[in-house]
Amino acid sequence: MNTQTTSWRLLDRLRRDGTGLRLNDLFANDPARFEKYALQVENILFDYSKNLVTDDIMAGLFDLAREVDVEGWRDRMFSGDRINVTEDRPVLHVALRNISARPILVDGIDVMEQVSEELDKMKRLTDAVRSGKWRGYSGKPITDVVNIGIGGSNLGPQMVTEALQKYSDNRIRVHYVSNVDGVQIAQVLRPLNPEQVLFVISSKTFTTRETLTNAETARNWLLASSFEETALEKHFIAVTANRNNALKFGLPQENIHDLWDWVGGRFSLWSAIGLPIALSLGFEHFESLLGGAYAMDRHFEMAPMEQNAPVIQALIGIWNSTFLGMQSQAILPYNQSLHMFSAYLQQADMESNGKSVDWDGNDVPYSTGSIIWGQLGINGQHAFYQYLHQGKNIVPADFIGAVESSTSVRGHHEYLMANFIAQTQALMTGIDETQVRAELRAKGKSEAYINNLVSHKIHQGNRPTNTILMERIDPHTLGALIALYEHKIFVQGIIWKVCSFDQWGVELGKELAHRILPQLDQNGTVEPQDSSTTGLIDFYKNVRKK
Ligand code: F6P
Repeated sequence: MNTQTTSWRLLDRLRRDGTGLRLNDLFANDPARFEKYALQVENILFDYSKNLVTDDIMAGLFDLAREVDVEGWRDRMFSGDRINVTEDRPVLHVALRNISARPILVDGIDVMEQVSEELDKMKRLTDAVRSGKWRGYSGKPITDVVNIGIGGSNLGPQMVTEALQKYSDNRIRVHYVSNVDGVQIAQVLRPLNPEQVLFVISSKTFTTRETLTNAETARNWLLASSFEETALEKHFIAVTANRNNALKFGLPQENIHDLWDWVGGRFSLWSAIGLPIALSLGFEHFESLLGGAYAMDRHFEMAPMEQNAPVIQALIGIWNSTFLGMQSQAILPYNQSLHMFSAYLQQADMESNGKSVDWDGNDVPYSTGSIIWGQLGINGQHAFYQYLHQGKNIVPADFIGAVESSTSVRGHHEYLMANFIAQTQALMTGIDETQVRAELRAKGKSEAYINNLVSHKIHQGNRPTNTILMERIDPHTLGALIALYEHKIFVQGIIWKVCSFDQWGVELGKELAHRILPQLDQNGTVEPQDSSTTGLIDFYKNVRKK
């Protein structure tokens, strides 16, 4: 983003002029504000009216998006151009849900052929496992699937499996192991019968130490119960872009499901990385998920910017963070099924846009990315909402809910959703001194008591929120919701001019862990390094020695 562009300068002026903007006034002065600043895509209502924006600001933001050619970049992504500049790759998670099968060429080859072959293979495996045709080494059907993977090879599939539990017939129980802390895999394996477990080793690179360590443990656990040579091939599947490493692990070719370098890990749940979703819910539900994402892709491609939900969501985010200086972004689902959604988005967003140099390697002179955090909103109300309502720093928040309940348990959903709507209203309207005094007087409190308390009870309000209200959480709508956020992240990356598709920042820590590992061995030599690192290693070794 060039800070010298006309739109940037205009927006910066609007920011300065708009320091006194009050949401309460914006609503009072424009009864049609909701109609103007809310739109519906698929089953999703996106209300961005409770943000500190005016028509002029929105126009400036759309100009900014035009000036940096968001639409051109979007088209380049959909057509398979190598827009992941630092890794020289296309960015084609959209190909994985391209149910129109419109050709997408990479180096002259239509990737849709590979995609549909892999989908067929996933379907065959899913049907075989779920029908009981796929048998373990002792001839028993599979009852449990254990997905071993981390980051994008864990968060997306696990978030979706949990969100759509209602659609599972419970024929197959799916478990997730991501942590290299052996406690997790031990806990997951303890109640399972090795004869009836299928492991899915999910790793795009098949080099991730956490995943390979867990995979080794799983293999040893299985082989401890079976002397059959063929046990491995009946109990292990790999999903990877690195066939060679999966073969070295001991898997036959047909047990390996393909992933391609043009699928980013954090955008990979639509590929065979989504196998556990299909195994848990059935392939038709996995296809509906893809269908929902495809519908959002079409919207993103076709809708004019002024009615384009991912573009608008991205621009609002940029206004809040880069222009208004609000550095974090809370994600607050009001639906138990979305309990992992903020953890999932943390990777999708922060690994994508947590960058500080532009495509040409120059430092960017503005803030990029946001600190994404959050958890179930209703629990948050009793934990951190105090900060949202009265904290010194303003935290914009996305409230995400569904009109229909995901359960037949009665008498809960209205209360949940009343809170969902009330919180965004409270964050916006606040409560001023006059109201606080009147409220306390009405309760018969003394003036001395009121004077002591009044400033503590004032809520400044004016805190921006988006509301994302789905009709229900079904596979199609969830697919659309995830794609909405993926495209929001994409648009922001283009405007900030950062490469949203690499993650070089995670490499240094990995390399240093490799260096530190041998130093933790009692016979290992501790290298000359900073005193803190040496002190920590020494303390660790001394305690282990006891
Ligand atoms: O360390 C970060 C990361 O590379 C993520 O981008 C990725 O999703 C995760 O590790 C897992 O990588 P892999 O699927 O190759 O095991």
